[in-house]
Amino acid sequence: MGNRSIKWGIVGLGNIASQFASDLLLIENAELTAVASRDFTKAEEFGGKFNALRMYNSYDLLFEDLEVEIVYIATPHNSHAELSIKALEKGKHVLCEKPMALSYQDAQRMVEASKKNNAFFMEAFWTRFIPSIQNLLQKIGNGIIGDVNYIKADFAFHGSETENKRLFDKELGGGALFDIGVYPLFLSYIVLGKPKEILAKTIKHKNDIDLQTSMILQYETAQSVLHASIVSESDMKAIISGTKGRIELNAPWFIADGYSLFINEEKEATFTFPALGKGYSHEIIECQNCILNNEIESKLWSHQNCLDLSRIVEEIKTQVKLPF
Ligand SMILES: NC(=O)c1ccc[n+]([C@@H]2O[C@H](COP(=O)([O-])OP(=O)(O)OC[C@H]3O[C@@H](n4cnc5c(N)ncnc54)[C@H](OP(=O)(O)O)[C@@H]3O)[C@@H](O)[C@H]2O)c1
Repeated sequence: MGNRSIKWGIVGLGNIASQFASDLLLIENAELTAVASRDFTKAEEFGGKFNALRMYNSYDLLFEDLEVEIVYIATPHNSHAELSIKALEKGKHVLCEKPMALSYQDAQRMVEASKKNNAFFMEAFWTRFIPSIQNLLQKIGNGIIGDVNYIKADFAFHGSETENKRLFDKELGGGALFDIGVYPLFLSYIVLGKPKEILAKTIKHKNDIDLQTSMILQYETAQSVLHASIVSESDMKAIISGTKGRIELNAPWFIADGYSLFINEEKEATFTFPALGKGYSHEIIECQNCILNNEIESKLWSHQNCLDLSRIVEEIKTQVKLPF
């Protein structure tokens, strides 16, 4: 498989692109070959800061760059599907920000494009790859807390319509569910799999996006109680409880640097697993390893995993009648 460098391109140079690019610099065999913005000045600034070789004022030009192997799509949700498919059709591998799409149908089209073009595709569910989550899943699999029968997780903060415009913008796919609700849904899915039944309730903004959404995922012998909000805050700890004990993930749980294990309500142990950089480095390493191994999907966050999560979100979107 070798350890050659993988050549990255980034499109959409906003908040998450900057955080991602700073982690990319930490990976020895990762090169930032090109960046693209709709605004060339921004591309020049970003490219200069993160040592990109080439800067473009159009995403299409980056997709045409023969040297770029994998494109990281860091634009708002509403453009994920079209841009991913375009890049895959150009033979590029793709890491696309979450949520991968605003509809299950689009998610299916993205996975089909990956298969058809024999190019790697993954939704950027970075939490899947951070060391604390990897270790926790292993321990739960080994039965440390017995059979899991309850999960409580949320992602909530006070957003502001002036400072977090994208979050409140209906055209860009704004709202709590698609932006942050996918995280607690991810946790439930990765621990318990696909639910038998879903119950969701929402409170909406005047423009019809969801300000806060609460969800119950019902399994044969387990329930997950989940919440997402852009208008209120929570402690953002997560609890995974089983027949023998419980795990409390440190806050904020989706980038937890560790967790505590409780048996019979007594704290038994604490585990610490700091992430490398801001935490995005682990998904970068996974993409690189898959490409070097000629794999078009990750085993840890596979095409089917991406589709299953998208299907769960689609069910909630339909129940609470979101406008996408
Ligand atoms: N994994 C994570 O931890 C994480 C964290 C935050 C966000 N995200 C995801 O990443 C995506 C981007 O979020 P962000 O917070 O980085 O957003 P952002 O700061 O608004 O940046 C998005 C970028 O997309 C480009 N863009 C293309 N079409 C646009 C349009 N019509 N309106 C506005 N921008 C447009 C712009 O780049 P140019 O002007 O350079 O073209 C913009 O800077 C979202 O899907 C979000 O869910 C993931």
